[in-house]
Amino acid sequence: MIVVTKAERLNTAPVGIIVEDENGAKAKAKLYASHTRENVEKGSFFVANIIKDPLIFAISAFDDLSEEYFESLDPPVIKGSLAYCEFEAKLKGLFADLRLLNGKIIRNELRAVNRGFNAVIEALVHATRYVKNRDPELEKKIRECYEIIEKCGGEREMEAMDIIKERTGIY
Ligand SMILES: Cc1cc2nc3c(=O)[nH]c(=O)nc-3n(C[C@H](O)[C@H](O)[C@H](O)COP(=O)(O)O)c2cc1C
Repeated sequence: MIVVTKAERLNTAPVGIIVEDENGAKAKAKLYASHTRENVEKGSFFVANIIKDPLIFAISAFDDLSEEYFESLDPPVIKGSLAYCEFEAKLKGLFADLRLLNGKIIRNELRAVNRGFNAVIEALVHATRYVKNRDPELEKKIRECYEIIEKCGGEREMEAMDIIKERTGIY
């Protein structure tokens, strides 16, 4: 999901929300050092958006979405978002304990599995780590993802891949 937090301005970042009981209101997220974590420390709201656009993931992974990417600012809902969930977030060590406050399904859309989209997500996970440690093993994994994106991805996946290439320097 794309998590929106706020300090002086809106911050957007892909974050994995871990749900152990799908009927409960509790969840958690592992938050490494990031602006998202800093904002939670300062008491920001924590709104997760369910997004199906690979380009939004790619932009949010390295930069922040500007306000024109939002269809609403209160609550912060990214254009095209399928749903949003607002959580209360309390840091506990590496994790943030989350409690669902409210949320809404905005679009009920069907989506088939797309290997290109999935490969963008995998590549982005590796890429956000790679830019910090330049691990050659990650470079190998990112290149494997490129092959799948090229074979199975559409236009948005290709654009997302271009951002990954630019930001990692792995062409
Ligand atoms: C699909 C995906 C999932 C991610 N999940 C997490 C996560 O659960 N926790 C985390 O700290 N970083 C996660 N990241 C990495 C952050 O998105 C990345 O470090 C980002 O640059 C943080 O942005 P920020 O400094 O604006 O908060 C994930 C990245 C991707 C692409």
